[in-house]
Amino acid sequence: MKISVIGAGTMGSGIAQIAATKGLEVCLYDSFDGAIERSKHKLIKILNRLVEKNRISEKDNQDILDRINFTKNINEIEGSSLVIEAIIEDLEVKKEIFSKLEKLVDDKCIIASNTSSLSIASIAAACKISERVVGIHFFNPAPLMPLVEIIPAIQTSDETLFFVKDIIDSWGKVTVLAKDTPGFIVNRLARPFYGEALRIYEEGIADFATIDWAMKEIGGFRMGPFELMDYIGNDINYIVTETVFTAFYYDPRYKPSFTQKRMMEAGYLGRKSGKGYYDYSSDIEEEINKDKELANKIFLRIIVMLINEAIDALFLNIATKDDLDLAMTKGVNYPKGLLRWADELGLETVLKLLEDLQAEYAEDRYRPSPLLRRMVKENKAFY
Ligand code: NAI
Repeated sequence: MKISVIGAGTMGSGIAQIAATKGLEVCLYDSFDGAIERSKHKLIKILNRLVEKNRISEKDNQDILDRINFTKNINEIEGSSLVIEAIIEDLEVKKEIFSKLEKLVDDKCIIASNTSSLSIASIAAACKISERVVGIHFFNPAPLMPLVEIIPAIQTSDETLFFVKDIIDSWGKVTVLAKDTPGFIVNRLARPFYGEALRIYEEGIADFATIDWAMKEIGGFRMGPFELMDYIGNDINYIVTETVFTAFYYDPRYKPSFTQKRMMEAGYLGRKSGKGYYDYSSDIEEEINKDKELANKIFLRIIVMLINEAIDALFLNIATKDDLDLAMTKGVNYPKGLLRWADELGLETVLKLLEDLQAEYAEDRYRPSPLLRRMVKENKAFY
């Protein structure tokens, strides 16, 4: 089977690597000067490192490279069974390429987008046979992160959905099914991890390092919110938040933070610029307030906001209970699924904490999901 990947950047190159490693014939296309060469050069380096670590043999290395046709000629995608688009995140540009792709492949070929924030329905609308369009959302770095969100648009046929699920499962990935709504699962459920941490900082309750420490020490997260924002990049993380906020018709739950906006404007992007919430050029250790009571308060405020987001996603049928939990453990390395965490904390406790926050701030941001209220009333748990 032949698959094609459109866009040889970070994500496209990673997806091509996975498919070629699984023995498929891959066509990797990019229209920009130098992009194909950069992608090939990077892949050679990655594969050489895998040989050094004995993860693959010299022969595997050569076979993987031989299976990828790095090309600037889009006509070479002909004969593909699946095309995955991973070009820039711009709806008009994506629509243009989808209508072009459709003319180059046969009617049975499935065409997918790796978009992280655009609606799949709007991309599918650019195609005459819109039933064959679907979202396949990988996480960065694609060869290492196990999760893939599969997003059918309202136009997508069941046949298309099963076909892509089978293929991505056969690549050893963990697939979850998400409704075509802003942020799908992970980028929606994870918002309070950043947003509530920023809010706690803005209120002067604790500094960055103390909030990070609390989430790692009490919650068992691998990285604190500020470390993670610095790792992702404040520009990218801010824009995802703003996009989700706008797409949800300005729901205050997703309101972006001025602190992060100013970081982005100042060029304090995080690790990639050498400075973000932390200064990566300095060896000076940040001072942390290790007061356990404070740490507990910080952790509980962030975790109940995360849990509320997960419960509301279940309430609105964004995904199944199992998929919501799998997405967070396999896509962003959360130590536990948020619904399982809700059970462990006790739904009554979660509801009480949210009601206290709502009463204190009188903000809709803290409104408990109707499903949480219902479950407490009926004395139910998720598992
Ligand atoms: P990137 O900027 O690394 O790569 C994009 C590539 O597409 C570039 O090589 C560029 O030359 C090429 N390109 C742009 N317009 C094109 C066109 N009209 N025709 C052909 N090639 C074109 O971007 P990245 O990070 O790989 O993102 C790609 C897509 O994946 C976006 O939709 C993004 O939202 C999504 N995504 C990104 C993730 C990330 O963490 N970087 C994670 C999951 C999804």
